[in-house]
Amino acid sequence: MNSCIIGLQWGDEGKGKIIDILAENCDIVVRYSGGANAGHTVVVGDNRFALHLLPSGSVRPNIICVITNAVVVDPETLLKEIETLAQKNITLTERLLISENAHMVLDYHKKEDQLREESLGKNKLGTTIRGIGPCYADKVGRSYALRMSDLRNLEKLKAKLQTIVDYKNKIFAALYNIEPIRADTIFEKCKSYADKLLPFTTDTTEFLHKSIADGKSILFEGAQGTLLDLDHGTFPFVTSSNSSALGMSAGSGVPVKMIDKFIGVAKAYTTRVGAGPFPTEQDNETGQYIRDKGGEYGTTTGRPRRCGWFDAVAVSYSLTIGAIDSIALMHLDTLSGLDEVKICRAYKINGKETTFFPANTTKLAQASPIYETIPAWEQELTDVKDFHDLPKNAQDYLMLVEEMTGKPVTIIGVGPKRAQTIFR
Ligand code: IMP
Repeated sequence: MNSCIIGLQWGDEGKGKIIDILAENCDIVVRYSGGANAGHTVVVGDNRFALHLLPSGSVRPNIICVITNAVVVDPETLLKEIETLAQKNITLTERLLISENAHMVLDYHKKEDQLREESLGKNKLGTTIRGIGPCYADKVGRSYALRMSDLRNLEKLKAKLQTIVDYKNKIFAALYNIEPIRADTIFEKCKSYADKLLPFTTDTTEFLHKSIADGKSILFEGAQGTLLDLDHGTFPFVTSSNSSALGMSAGSGVPVKMIDKFIGVAKAYTTRVGAGPFPTEQDNETGQYIRDKGGEYGTTTGRPRRCGWFDAVAVSYSLTIGAIDSIALMHLDTLSGLDEVKICRAYKINGKETTFFPANTTKLAQASPIYETIPAWEQELTDVKDFHDLPKNAQDYLMLVEEMTGKPVTIIGVGPKRAQTIFR
């Protein structure tokens, strides 16, 4: 059984927890896109892990973790994560595989991300400044890109790095008037990355296909969310990879045909970090209530997240383009204590009603939400173990989500811990 977990909103849906739980019955967990911009939080007992690059299954000692071709690997962040787990006696020796064809995020990518965002002022995208856009741009441009396999030949790497840094310095000087960056400093770091990461570096496509042939059970872990997909999200306020279900295949080298089940993860409300239109945003007391109760501050950047009502139009779009089978609805507990809860069932755009989400940002910015409102519930949900023990209004809310999206809600999150999860 191979399955894939996908974010149905703008990221931060709580995928880390679901992946960690489902990993229990898997042999292999695969991260196939994005980079250290992701922030997957996994809580195990009293330990809270904030993972950026390592698959969320890595906290389980017997799982094999794979980082495939389309992930942009920041070796510095990855090494820190490996070290953090090692401090908790979780070792990745013999069970972490990194694609030799994955591209590396180096210091100049992060610098470029930061300089570009600063120079855009109020028009900035609100990136995580993790160098994601510049690294993917170099990958697509090809001439100035470095992959993990480049660490295998340090002499060649040194020469390539000099060419790249000379090129970057010309751009940095012309556009941003900054001091040149030094190739030798980055090269020294690369030598240490080679020592520490080459033992994990291999052909992950070969490994995955052999594992499938051997009948292993694989869980593919999406990063960010469908609405941040470069081609199908709310461009330009997106990330630079295909973070929808459509990216799983190209990112990992495993065809969609080999996946038995796609599970979409959404929060019982909506959040967004960074700029861009957000039709159901509640920039008011309700939004602040959700932010505080849900701890809605970025795992990667610490930024307060923008909060709003559940948007069934947006989620239905993500379900459709991903051919998703079922929904895991997280953070239902966060809505306790509100007077009423709303779900957006349609948009009005230029006087016309639509239930199909326009990924085009100009159209989306004109969308006004049409809501269905139901009374909320007082009771805290964090100890509820069964759907039938949820307050009637919370049950009605879930059924409304199912009715509007046309998909079953099979997993319900009522708190950050593994045990705070209801299965239906
Ligand atoms: P980048 O991926 O750092 O280039 O950022 C581009 C956009 O994607 C920004 O709006 C970020 O806030 C958003 N983004 C990137 N990664 C995540 C994530 O893991 N969760 C939520 N938003 C993200």
